[in-house]
Amino acid sequence: MNSDFLGIAGRTALVTGGARNIGRACALRLASAGVQVVIGDLLADQANQVADEIRAAGGSAIGCALDIADRVSVEACAARARERFGRIDVLVNNAALFSALGYQDFDQIPFEEWDRVIHTNITGTFQCVRAVTPDMKSSGWGRIVNVSSGTYRMGRPHFLHYVTSKASLAGMSRSLARELGQHGVTVNTVLPGVVLHGLQASRLPDQYKQMILNMQCVPQPLDCEAIANAVTFLCSEAARFVTGQELAIDGGLTHGG
Ligand SMILES: NC(=O)c1ccc[n+]([C@@H]2O[C@H](COP(=O)([O-])OP(=O)(O)OC[C@H]3O[C@@H](n4cnc5c(N)ncnc54)[C@H](O)[C@@H]3O)[C@@H](O)[C@H]2O)c1
Repeated sequence: MNSDFLGIAGRTALVTGGARNIGRACALRLASAGVQVVIGDLLADQANQVADEIRAAGGSAIGCALDIADRVSVEACAARARERFGRIDVLVNNAALFSALGYQDFDQIPFEEWDRVIHTNITGTFQCVRAVTPDMKSSGWGRIVNVSSGTYRMGRPHFLHYVTSKASLAGMSRSLARELGQHGVTVNTVLPGVVLHGLQASRLPDQYKQMILNMQCVPQPLDCEAIANAVTFLCSEAARFVTGQELAIDGGLTHGG
């Protein structure tokens, strides 16, 4: 893909959870398409490092301390983005409570942990949408991509709060697409398959990793860049008639599911 095909150079994107892994890859890929990127994350230092990396490559970016679970923090990050770049055109809702969570039977999940996951992953996403849509409505153009998970199609066990939260994003996207389409704003969901990195790689047994590869049509390990390419397409001008959709990037793991 080149920037001309995508047609989004000069736009501004907020990528939540952009300090590492999938979010970081999305920030770098959008920047390579000429997008000005705001990298929001709890890990503010690492978010700043990603912004430094983008600027060193000739792009435009800032890091921003962000807790999507905290409405004040979300509003402050959106304000900082506007102060620096004028307005926000693109939102990649990638931040989530995910790799910090352990696997456990549903009846062992503490209620406090359930509430925290649901609040962060669902309400946090909603808060980010609320913070950026005024800009999109007033300019008549916007892109929102919600990062869900293939786990909800597969019904992954021992991760009920997470899977429930990710399933809700698909419904949120479809309904938002109906409300925002008239303003030139598209809303889509991506469903990454199993991307093995860091903690995620170390906590899954080799047998499980091999089983996933065997279930994929393309039996190769999935990487963050594959997710970032799909996200960038959905954020582009080229995808202007794609809305309310769920796109699985998983080597065919969940196809037909
Ligand atoms: N890695 C996978 O296999 C996989 C598969 C399916 C879906 N996903 C989804 O992709 C997204 C990114 O996954 P990842 O593997 O890169 O996860 P990760 O845990 O490595 O990164 C998540 C990032 O979000 C940030 N974050 C967490 N809570 C936050 C909050 N409240 N406010 C702001 N930032 C916050 C973290 O600091 C981190 O930088 C997540 O939404 C995850 O659910 C990942």
